[in-house]
Amino acid sequence: MREWLYDVFRERPWWMSATMIFCAWMAFVYVPWDLFVKPVARDEEIWFGIEFRGLLAKLAALPHWFVYGAAVHGFRRRRPWMAIWAPAYAAQVAFSIFVWKALETGGLTGIVFGFLFALPMTGLAYAFWSRRDYFAPRPLGLVARYGDWALVTGASSGIGAELARQIAADGMSVVLSARRGDRLSRLAEEIEKASGVATRVVVADLSERDGQAALLDGVDDLEIGLLVNNAGFGYQGRFDLQDGERLRRLVAVNCEAPLVLTHALARRMCERGRGAVLFTGSASGHQPLPLHAVYAASKAFGLILGESLWGELRAANVDVTVLEPGSTQTEFHAVAGELPHPGAEVEGVARAGLEALGQQPSILVGWYNWLRSNVASRLLTRPVAIHAAHALMKKQTPEDMR
Ligand SMILES: NC(=O)c1ccc[n+]([C@@H]2O[C@H](COP(=O)([O-])OP(=O)(O)OC[C@H]3O[C@@H](n4cnc5c(N)ncnc54)[C@H](OP(=O)(O)O)[C@@H]3O)[C@@H](O)[C@H]2O)c1
Repeated sequence: MREWLYDVFRERPWWMSATMIFCAWMAFVYVPWDLFVKPVARDEEIWFGIEFRGLLAKLAALPHWFVYGAAVHGFRRRRPWMAIWAPAYAAQVAFSIFVWKALETGGLTGIVFGFLFALPMTGLAYAFWSRRDYFAPRPLGLVARYGDWALVTGASSGIGAELARQIAADGMSVVLSARRGDRLSRLAEEIEKASGVATRVVVADLSERDGQAALLDGVDDLEIGLLVNNAGFGYQGRFDLQDGERLRRLVAVNCEAPLVLTHALARRMCERGRGAVLFTGSASGHQPLPLHAVYAASKAFGLILGESLWGELRAANVDVTVLEPGSTQTEFHAVAGELPHPGAEVEGVARAGLEALGQQPSILVGWYNWLRSNVASRLLTRPVAIHAAHALMKKQTPEDMR
């Protein structure tokens, strides 16, 4: 509990924390009560100094709910959009108080009263504006936190290649691993030119025990401070139509290899008293996913393993985080045999994972994925969630594999 409180309140100025607590009270207690319990006839809301009553007040409470809910998230996770959000909302409240008090009292006295009553909120809006740098993106500081070398698996394309670029741009040297050596060599050259760090290429097939061992041998002389378990692939289609050997390889790459690598390298991190492991999981790991069954199960394994280790390895100063992207524009869809569909850009996905490292056990990237996963896993019953996921997956599956 003490650790959790330290996590929630560290770094932020006290008055921002106080505002965050107030927003949490509004989002989780007051506004739900106001919306669902308070009688419609007694309801009133004020926006920009205009008073709404009755049903209109109920409707006007919805944006309030959204504003306070988003503010709690924004303060907690230090989101860049809070630099505008916080002063703008405080200024809106100040303006509302001014208009409301001026109209209520009337005349010049009303204006003076309005001004005086609005002063504290105006001060808060100013304070947020002058400390907007608090929400600006910060350097990751990976070298100082974890050491000189990172190992990125699945670095020959997509999210892994981008993670390697961003880690190197922050000053860490990187070991790049995958099966396609030519791609890795090209990326190593690009990274050395752009970031001036050292690189090493280790070609390994992680679906085989020998490949996993070869990768560990290939980094044995290095102090790996950051392990990125990113290599992985999907396999779309009906279970009874799928190839058994390919399913075995999927489980080996997505589950066994991260387990083996983490077990070997995290042990050394614990001995050194610092280090980090980033798993690339998936939003798919939160719920059953017909037509992507083994893949979803493999990502659920990574999610639970990573989050459990987050709790376990903290005492040894080793950070663990599971990055959970939704659909992302990489070679993943083609490799998995999915019909083409849109996805997020890799830059934002990789950045989200690296920023979450040391901050939280897992991060679902994108509000849509966050909402969908939480609705499916927490609000819907299991059969309803499974039927909905099945309907969605059918649209992405070639007809002969449905
Ligand atoms: N793109 C998405 O929509 C999405 C969504 C959620 C989660 N993810 C996860 O993100 C991670 C990265 O995928 P991506 O989207 O960047 O796809 P990608 O472009 O296909 O990259 C996959 C990487 O994994 C490597 N890999 C695959 N099989 C391997 C094996 N047997 N041994 C060693 N390396 C292997 C590939 O390298 P080689 O082929 O050269 O070996 C490649 O570098 C995966 O864990 C995936 O599950 C992706």
